[in-house]
Amino acid sequence: MSSSTVITNIAALVTNDPSLGDHSPLGLVRDAAVVIEGDRVVWTGESSKAPATDNRVDADGRAVLPGFVDSHSHLLFAGDRTEEFNARMSGRPYSAGGIRTTVAATRAASDAELEAGLTRYLAEALRQGTTTFETKSGYGLTTADESRALRVAARHTDEVTFLGAHIVAPELADDPAAYVDLVTSEMLDACAPHARWIDVFCEKGAFDGDQARAILTAGKAKGLHPRIHANQLSHGPGVQLAVELDAASADHCTHLTDADVDALAGSRTVATLLPGAEFSTRAQWPDARRLIDAGATVALSTDCNPGSSFTSSVPFCIALAVRDMGMTPDEAVWSATAGGAAALRRDDVGRLAPGAYADLTLLDAPSHVHLAYRPGVPLVAGVWRRGVRRV
Ligand code: NIG
Ligand code: FE
Repeated sequence: MSSSTVITNIAALVTNDPSLGDHSPLGLVRDAAVVIEGDRVVWTGESSKAPATDNRVDADGRAVLPGFVDSHSHLLFAGDRTEEFNARMSGRPYSAGGIRTTVAATRAASDAELEAGLTRYLAEALRQGTTTFETKSGYGLTTADESRALRVAARHTDEVTFLGAHIVAPELADDPAAYVDLVTSEMLDACAPHARWIDVFCEKGAFDGDQARAILTAGKAKGLHPRIHANQLSHGPGVQLAVELDAASADHCTHLTDADVDALAGSRTVATLLPGAEFSTRAQWPDARRLIDAGATVALSTDCNPGSSFTSSVPFCIALAVRDMGMTPDEAVWSATAGGAAALRRDDVGRLAPGAYADLTLLDAPSHVHLAYRPGVPLVAGVWRRGVRRV
């Protein structure tokens, strides 16, 4: 039998299990303990009632929460877009066109270079409390380049997304229909074995609603489940399409009509908000308050990518969401943990209750609220992933 460890003397434990503690959505337990056995949580509750274990870790009056579930990132890339960011911060607008710069650099990179970049950003994210992450292809745009990106990604996570439909490949820019044909046939066949999800950037300058429907439907037929970059830069059909296809998530959701909000609220499609993108492109913030008040499930994620959001920090996104998107600190922490899990249709991560993976983050703070209250401060003092302390 594997050995058991109790983390005790936790001032505030976020479980995301409303049957525990204060019975809020966070299931907040004061003076708490968590017991880990092997890679799972086996017990949570008040410190004084914790069962005997082999090992003991003293949290010393600090806060513990589930490891962050970052359900949207683009980490298979090479190259650098510092100049583009610099120009944008000097007044030039963001457009989908910058993606081409990364496509050229990514095609030129070796597998080892791609994997080294991925590994580096994952280590960075882990140090900031992320224990589950999704990542996408989308900077290769040929059958060979997309499938190798997915193969590299699959060595590091189960949550791999085929985004061949990020933009039309530059060599087919004059014939988008031919590119959609490629994505839905040969490229999909080569990529489907290495991915769980299929995604489309549904936006002016990328793919319209009909193209997106064709691509996602073809993916579904190959056993991939849809998620969509929807309504990021403008109003469009992405959110309605996400709901129509029972996508796990509609991501960005920055420009929404009342009908879009109602559609999300009446569905199990999660609205994944990515404030790093609005921050790094000086764009209008998505309105989390409006979505939550309507009854939609909201996730918060980094969108980490070299163009529109080069941050791997979920705590930074939590702080932005609280400051500028109308979320309470409790809501933002829920969305970055349980919300991310919902966006990946997972119930084994994003919560700390018996049966869930022992993925947890110890903060150098007495409360999870400090994630928003102390923006930019490296508060993560410990990270366990699958029951093993990694940080
Ligand atoms: O999620 N929206 C499309 N894709 C990325 C941006 C990618 C890039 O600029 O390289 C995003 O923001
Ligand atoms: Fe994205």
